[in-house]
Amino acid sequence: MGIELPRHIGFIMDGNGRWATSRGLSRSEGHKAGADAFRRICEYGCDIGIKSMTFYAFSTENWKRPAQEVSAIMNIFRDYLHEAQERKEENAQKGMHMHYMGEREGMPEDILDLFDTAENESVNQTKTTVNIAVNYGGRAEILHSVKRLAHSVAAGELDPDSITEDMITSGLYTAGQPEPDIIVRPSGEQRLSNFMIWQAAYSEFWYTDKLWPDFTTEDFDKVIEDYSKRHRRFGGV
Ligand code: IPE
Ligand code: IPE
Ligand code: MG
Repeated sequence: MGIELPRHIGFIMDGNGRWATSRGLSRSEGHKAGADAFRRICEYGCDIGIKSMTFYAFSTENWKRPAQEVSAIMNIFRDYLHEAQERKEENAQKGMHMHYMGEREGMPEDILDLFDTAENESVNQTKTTVNIAVNYGGRAEILHSVKRLAHSVAAGELDPDSITEDMITSGLYTAGQPEPDIIVRPSGEQRLSNFMIWQAAYSEFWYTDKLWPDFTTEDFDKVIEDYSKRHRRFGGV
């Protein structure tokens, strides 16, 4: 392609509900269509050689939704993870490493087990890391990292004045990965909704009115093309 690829892209997979409603379908059908878009975009990102991708699938705030919708979403995770188990060889060939990114507390055990299996089995596949943000909130993630440091302070192992930004970064779920170069949000909303709020300090943003289930590989190409034209300054000149 000859242009600089983003090393890490974040996708806020929003608009499933509106996509379904506009077709007279249930919101659950919208989430299914959103999962198909996820498969398509994830596969394409691996094929073109993106190093890290993070897909925001379910936030710590999404538990507020009706129980029926939440359980439909959890079932979609189960289906996807069972399918990933069947397509293990294919994913290995793609060099895809799957990583659960979020709070474990509150999640059904069987889903965590499926994620753990997928994660452990793909640990040596280092071409593309795919973070799936489930029960994820940026504030909860920072809190988690800060508590870890607080424990070290309380144990007398760490001087509070020697705490650095890097120490907080290394306690996040994305430890060791580059920060997102660009964050994509479909559905016309222009907000982060608690997505990677620490890591996004200098991320570029890319918005579209399209709803997530309609997001195509051509849209992905456009993100990359637009990214290559952005001038990032990181506070410099
Ligand atoms: C995103 O789609 C999926 C989740 C948040 C789980 P939405 O369900 O938020 O879709 P809209 O925003 O209602 O259209
Ligand atoms: C953000 O979408 C979370 C996910 C896409 C998983 P929401 O639909 O929950 O965000 P708000 O409520 O519009 O900010
Ligand atoms: Mg939404």
